Amino acid sequence: EKVLFNDKMIDRENALFSFDDRSMYFGDGVYEVIRVYSGHPYKLEMHLQRLQRSADELDIPYSIKEKQTLKKRVTELIDTNDLTHDGYVYIQLSRGAAARDHLYERHIDPFIFAFTKEMETPVNQQEQGIAVYLTEDIRWLRCDIKTVNLLGNVLAKRQAADHDCSEAIQHRGDTITEGSSSNLFIVKDGRLQTHPADNLILNGITRQIVADLAEEQGLPVSFTPFTTAELLEADEAFITSTINEITPIIEWRGTRHGMLNIGPITAQLQKALQADIE
Ligand code: PDD
Repeated sequence: EKVLFNDKMIDRENALFSFDDRSMYFGDGVYEVIRVYSGHPYKLEMHLQRLQRSADELDIPYSIKEKQTLKKRVTELIDTNDLTHDGYVYIQLSRGAAARDHLYERHIDPFIFAFTKEMETPVNQQEQGIAVYLTEDIRWLRCDIKTVNLLGNVLAKRQAADHDCSEAIQHRGDTITEGSSSNLFIVKDGRLQTHPADNLILNGITRQIVADLAEEQGLPVSFTPFTTAELLEADEAFITSTINEITPIIEWRGTRHGMLNIGPITAQLQKALQADIE
């Protein structure tokens, strides 16, 4: 198995990176997860665009030219590793290696790596739905940047699992933000609602695709915040992510409790997304 190591394709066991990498000391790096369907990366350009934005927001030097090269390398990596079925590509861009110091210098060379992994679509969860755990959002105020500094998300995910839930849904005070590794939509009276793409959530690629598909199907989407109380009133709810695609929610636990059925709009959007993938 090969991995991308800066601009080289090398064996995974030889991919040893610096003890002083800043992503290790400070979580000082950004990343992307891109789905591969039947050997083809899905929405690669959108993911690379977001990687660029994350890097820009963190003042990590990463140029358009590097982006073009990376696009080619991702495709090469998929081919080299013979990922002909379903899986994903993980890309991480770190500010680079330097003696530990909070203050970063601008001359450090960024470090980039990528690997591929085979993975089936979680069809069972998509068909049967999942229970989610409502918990306070304790993350920083730049959740729009896809950084590897994911402690709030990691703690929320563990908390959810400890309560037999597949995902954590976070709220800041009364306002629902997003999952620990997914976005959230609710449906009420035929209308979809999801948190606006501001600094409090990651603007998920799947979220954007699903919102576009909904509008194409004549389903209105409102990008406005909603409360935990409104959540319990919802007719349907689902999470979206590169890994989960569209996964219906059938139970709320944690701060609030409730049950839900998998509804027709969720099913309709699942179908539309599958059609877009194929
Ligand atoms: N996570 N919100 C958060 C906090 C996320 O970590 C993710 C994705 C999403 C959904 O974004 P997208 O649709 O672009 O995958 C929303 C990835 C899959 C991960 O960390 O593994």
